[in-house]
Amino acid sequence: MQILNRPRRNRKSTAIREMLCETRLDVAQLVYPLFIVDGNGIQDEVKSMPGNYRWSLDLLLKEIESCIALGIQQYVLFPAVEEHLKDNIASYSYSNDNFYLNAINKIKTTFPQITLISDVAMDPYSSDGHDGFVANGQIDNDATLPILAQMTIAQAQAGIDIIGPSDMMDGRVGFLRQAMDKEGFVNTSIMSYTAKYASAYYGPFRDALDSAPKAGDKKTYQMNPANKMEAVREANLDESEGADILMVKPAILYLDVIQLLKQNSNLPIAAYNVSGECSMLMAAAQKGYLNYEAAMQEMLISIARAGADIILTYFAKDYARLMKK
Ligand code: PBG
Repeated sequence: MQILNRPRRNRKSTAIREMLCETRLDVAQLVYPLFIVDGNGIQDEVKSMPGNYRWSLDLLLKEIESCIALGIQQYVLFPAVEEHLKDNIASYSYSNDNFYLNAINKIKTTFPQITLISDVAMDPYSSDGHDGFVANGQIDNDATLPILAQMTIAQAQAGIDIIGPSDMMDGRVGFLRQAMDKEGFVNTSIMSYTAKYASAYYGPFRDALDSAPKAGDKKTYQMNPANKMEAVREANLDESEGADILMVKPAILYLDVIQLLKQNSNLPIAAYNVSGECSMLMAAAQKGYLNYEAAMQEMLISIARAGADIILTYFAKDYARLMKK
């Protein structure tokens, strides 16, 4: 048979396939999300997120040590706060005896070489369960910014490397940049949740933190899943306000948005492979419907192929283990 072009020639051996591989994903590009609770000796599995735990600081330090041994150098830390510490102004987020701030300090003094990223939003500390300040049933954008700034300065003082504003208030990147610069934290970076969608796929995360909204939803601040040009507008704003890294969230359902921001910005693009995306794969694997290792690697490589430079994923540890083999 006369067939001039035979693409299969470029797939004929493992060596050739590896040579011609267009996308590679290094463990150095992964950020591992971890949940922390106050207390001692706690390793409490999140029911809707098999293999993920709420850790107390003592055990979290051991967990991070074992992840460092696998090559993971980037971590994003989320606090699960007891209900009685929550109020409508999220005052616990910047209080002196806050266990999350204390943990940031301890983790960074124990492992100064790693990158530690925070979450900046009111929801883990808010009695309303919203990312912004609630007044008369509405999210008050401008009243939220000073609260986020107090939270940010407290995290910067504790030694965080990168703050991660996930609240989607207008103007917050510039406001937080200015607040940090004024206090002398010019080297503390901002990874902005630039295109954060109002997604059903955050459900397991809200179980982990008990942070679901008490009333209403997040649609007046998080983006409509139907939109993508709006993501470019958000990216332009965050860039002009001083963001160092832009993020798209969720990841696998928004690969087109990742690609769009990669093409429209010179900043590094992060993608958050969120709790629901990971949990649905885990659930299918536990039922025997999918092969966990293969499906997980394919999910991560698809996010990198779309243009993500950095991936926040609950699979980071398992991926790092696989790469060691
Ligand atoms: C809170 C925040 C959320 C996530 C990260 N930061 C939840 C939300 O906006 O309701 C979700 C992460 C995940 O689902 O893995 N500001």
